[in-house]
Amino acid sequence: MTNKLKPESLCVQAGWQPKKGEPRVLPIYQSTTFKYETSEQMAKLFDLEESGYFYTRLQNPTNDAVAAKIAALEGGVAAMLTSSGQAANFFAFFNICEAGDHIVSASSIYGGTYNLLAVTLKKLGIECTFIDQDASEEEIGKAFRPNTKLLFGETIANPGIMVLDIEKFARIAHKHGVPLVVDNTFATPINCRPFEWGADIVTHSTTKYMDGHATTVGGCIVDSGNFDWEAHADKYPGLCQPDPSYHGLTYSKAFGKMAFITKATSQLMRDLGSTQSPQNAFLLNLGLETLHLRMPQHCKNALAVATWLKNCDKVAWVHYPELPGDKYYDLAKKYLPNGSCGVLSFGLKGGRDIAIRFMDNLQLAAIVTHVADARTCVLHPASHTHRQLTDEQLIEAGVAPDLIRFSVGIENADDIIADIEQALNK
Ligand SMILES: Cc1ncc(COP(=O)(O)O)c(C=O)c1O
Repeated sequence: MTNKLKPESLCVQAGWQPKKGEPRVLPIYQSTTFKYETSEQMAKLFDLEESGYFYTRLQNPTNDAVAAKIAALEGGVAAMLTSSGQAANFFAFFNICEAGDHIVSASSIYGGTYNLLAVTLKKLGIECTFIDQDASEEEIGKAFRPNTKLLFGETIANPGIMVLDIEKFARIAHKHGVPLVVDNTFATPINCRPFEWGADIVTHSTTKYMDGHATTVGGCIVDSGNFDWEAHADKYPGLCQPDPSYHGLTYSKAFGKMAFITKATSQLMRDLGSTQSPQNAFLLNLGLETLHLRMPQHCKNALAVATWLKNCDKVAWVHYPELPGDKYYDLAKKYLPNGSCGVLSFGLKGGRDIAIRFMDNLQLAAIVTHVADARTCVLHPASHTHRQLTDEQLIEAGVAPDLIRFSVGIENADDIIADIEQALNK
């Protein structure tokens, strides 16, 4: 029933489908373990012959209901919750890459993901080539190698606020026989559904707009079910060859379109254990119930703030894709016709030092590491999230040293602008 519903109804209704006499509201299954009557019943679960719950490190009914809601919102076939957005991206990559493999990624991405790709995955023998997402298809194509296993980008880059040309990226990925993985955190499925433009796998930091209240760290991976792993079987042995840890079961043969998420759940979660707590999944679900109401308000407020900043003589530059004249305006109109997100970036005349003083003078907008929740907040990436990057890497990641990341909340836009004005006047 829920698959036919529109996004607003999916936010409220998808996922938990209570049967007769069951709780109307999604319950928190606060249990590590699940009971069976016979040893054989349990054995079948361990062999993946039957589906069912046995241990929350792998699966939990609360988490699965929330994952199903996110899968429905994105238009995917299956999803898995993770303990954080970082875990979501790591699991999405590691599910199809192993030592000796290679990834091509947009360089303008979240600093944590950049570090994961540039430093930590390298230690596991997985290399990454970073490319300019605005380069031509031919130019980006040159980064691919025979051992490349996926192409990665963010729908709206954090913190550069660049809009990804998803169709172009999908064409490049598919031409090279690999899936396109898109981090859709900032847009959320309310504003963009990357599968409709050819992406194969979507990841989320649910910590951001999905939770929306800054109460829980979490992540999610959604699979479109569209990438034909078997057609590239030699490239993806983890999915298309027998898994010795499940008595030689082959995921692509046993689970078809569900292979990617089944492997991530039953193999990676089992071995690496980064599941979301059911309590957090419950809070995430509450956030999702109002996502469709909050996103338009974030976008409306952010456009008002961006327009005000653009007309302010103390401001050197503003990036917000919905501002006419912005470099990404046309891509935003195509991929984000109903609005982009509440995050914008700008620089002040006077550069880095003035940026820091301005932030210290804000009263309503708080300096926090977080971004994309109901309360307006602000961050200086070069001093905070991206401080591990060299100046060269900062520029490559689309982060000017004077860049202020401003995450517009759902308060009244006039109050947010008044706060910026008084801080600038100081
Ligand atoms: C686009 C994007 N992806 C992933 C992450 C990592 O998410 P988490 O902080 O939930 O681990 C972030 C965090 O800011 C992000 O902005």
